[in-house]
Amino acid sequence: MTQRNPMIGKVIAIDGPAGAGKGTLATSLAREYRMKYLDTGTLYRTVAYKVLRAGGDPAREEDALKACDLSDYDFKHMGNNKFCVLLDGEDVMSELRTQSVGQGASKVAFYTSVRSALKQFQIEFAEKWASQYGVILDGRDIGTVICPDADYKFFIDADPEVRAHRRIEELKSRGHQANFEETLSEILERDARDRGRKDAPLKPAGDAYVVDTSHKNALQVLQMVMDYISMPVAKV
Ligand code: CDP
Repeated sequence: MTQRNPMIGKVIAIDGPAGAGKGTLATSLAREYRMKYLDTGTLYRTVAYKVLRAGGDPAREEDALKACDLSDYDFKHMGNNKFCVLLDGEDVMSELRTQSVGQGASKVAFYTSVRSALKQFQIEFAEKWASQYGVILDGRDIGTVICPDADYKFFIDADPEVRAHRRIEELKSRGHQANFEETLSEILERDARDRGRKDAPLKPAGDAYVVDTSHKNALQVLQMVMDYISMPVAKV
């Protein structure tokens, strides 16, 4: 017999800087609780990728705004709650995860016009799936701007050096090379831009549970967060 999933109707907001482990945590939580997951950074990355493909400059508001129509891209959930982005049927997720696209994403994300253009997509996603499954969104402003009434808010952080090492491992697993110094400085530059912008800066929501993952592995972080949520996992 199927038991009702206790997370149906719930919203989990996860924010934090690059490489802190938001995506890993969100993917595991989505699996455990059978919730739908949106990695909102992917939207900003897609905008930056479109600008770069068109030979534009992500730091120019006009170029960034032109790229905000994401209707030619297909945002799909694979069976295992992996998120993927298709362009003309081709999976472009690996291209989206490069450092240059990450930098471009934080440049386009600076503009209020871009943030408002992407806001509706995120709100519609949360509304569409919350009532059927429960949703998890991760990003920089989920607990503060996109889902201020989320049932659970987490801010996931870690030392920049640890985050740089994790990012290198992630890039390697996707077939990209990266060296430590460059990766660290890319992360610090992006942190400064994300924390310093006027609109929706990266910061913990007042009511967020802050987790420092510097000395914890993915399983320990998952356990801490699930202890905090304190809900039984869905049984089928
Ligand atoms: O995976 P990682 O943490 O490196 O970055 P991401 O989540 O893919 O986000 C890429 C960039 O998009 C960030 O550096 C932010 O500037 C921007 N972003 C944002 O401003 N707001 C969000 N909700 C998500 C991402």
